Amino acid sequence: PSDATIFSLIQPTGKFHLGNYLGATRIWKQISQSKQPTQTAIFGVADLHAITVPKPDPMEFLQCRREALASILSLGIDPQNAIMMYQSEVPQHTQLHWVLSTFTSMGVLNRMTQWKAKAKSNHMSVKLGLFSYPVLQAADILLYKATHVPVGDDQCQPLELCRSIAQQFNQFYGDENFFPIPRTILAPTKKILSLGDPLKKMSKSDPNKDSNIYVNDAADVIVKKIRKAVTDSVTGPITFDPVNRPGVSNLLNMVSGITQREMSAVEQEVSHLSHLGEFKNYVAEIVVEELRGPRERYEQLMNEPEYLKQVGDQGAERARAIAEVNMRQVYRMMGF
Ligand code: ADP
Ligand code: NA
Repeated sequence: PSDATIFSLIQPTGKFHLGNYLGATRIWKQISQSKQPTQTAIFGVADLHAITVPKPDPMEFLQCRREALASILSLGIDPQNAIMMYQSEVPQHTQLHWVLSTFTSMGVLNRMTQWKAKAKSNHMSVKLGLFSYPVLQAADILLYKATHVPVGDDQCQPLELCRSIAQQFNQFYGDENFFPIPRTILAPTKKILSLGDPLKKMSKSDPNKDSNIYVNDAADVIVKKIRKAVTDSVTGPITFDPVNRPGVSNLLNMVSGITQREMSAVEQEVSHLSHLGEFKNYVAEIVVEELRGPRERYEQLMNEPEYLKQVGDQGAERARAIAEVNMRQVYRMMGF
């Protein structure tokens, strides 16, 4: 058996953006390359989670799911080094979700910030699936007895819930070691913000496409979007000041995240740039260069549907093999 299992999913609710990349998926590639042979890495497409938002059109959804898998692969992850799968192709996710839902109190779910944000606007029509979304997340992770979960910092609260559910299950059935208590692996990059409104995070569900830098945007599109990014009219040196200069600081964060350098070093580097236009060109160049490889691989992958399908099929098979064993153990412990 594996001495560590690294697990993470991403929703196919739209195209992947720079926030997903710097906050989560870039680390996936690093992990899959540097892990020991005895460690397991599982990365996938959270397609069951994606139907809790206004239901996608089936044809578009199918395409989005495929694009999501291609986007993960385009990061350069070798399918031999990591299991890559669609959540919906492993039926045990929903089986464990049900079991874990009987360990989760409504009160705790009610306090989840993402739920509160989404339910507030739409209280009467909001769906049960959205409410139990974090329980499905817990099931995703615990199904593989994952030990490490690389995600952005907006996922800290759901992971805290997952740990609490795991502890309750372990305690109830008297096996402290049954579900490992999963640890969060946070990317070093802070939250990436919207280009159009640097008070909001960059998000797949943002209808304003100019607010997001997509991993697969063409170079000229990226340049144009960054040039249009909302900043400020402060003159003088470019300074990192998230409170007073959120737009400028967001662009600095991108540079610091991509180049993996301290903010002070980045500030030093841009200190000679005399105005924001120059600074934006500098940022655009770095972003374009970073995303060049993934974009080229993505285009290639989208032209190889048989290969994509084969990766998904093999990943699902390997994931099911683990999930079946663990789910059977869960049921047996419970007396089923
Ligand atoms: P989105 O909110 O864009 O739909 P997901 O909810 O599918 O993205 O999140 C996928 C991963 O990307 C998660 O690990 C999440 O923490 C991370 N992430 C999402 N948005 C950002 C952002 N703006 N900055 C940094 N990380 C992010
Ligand atoms: Na999200």
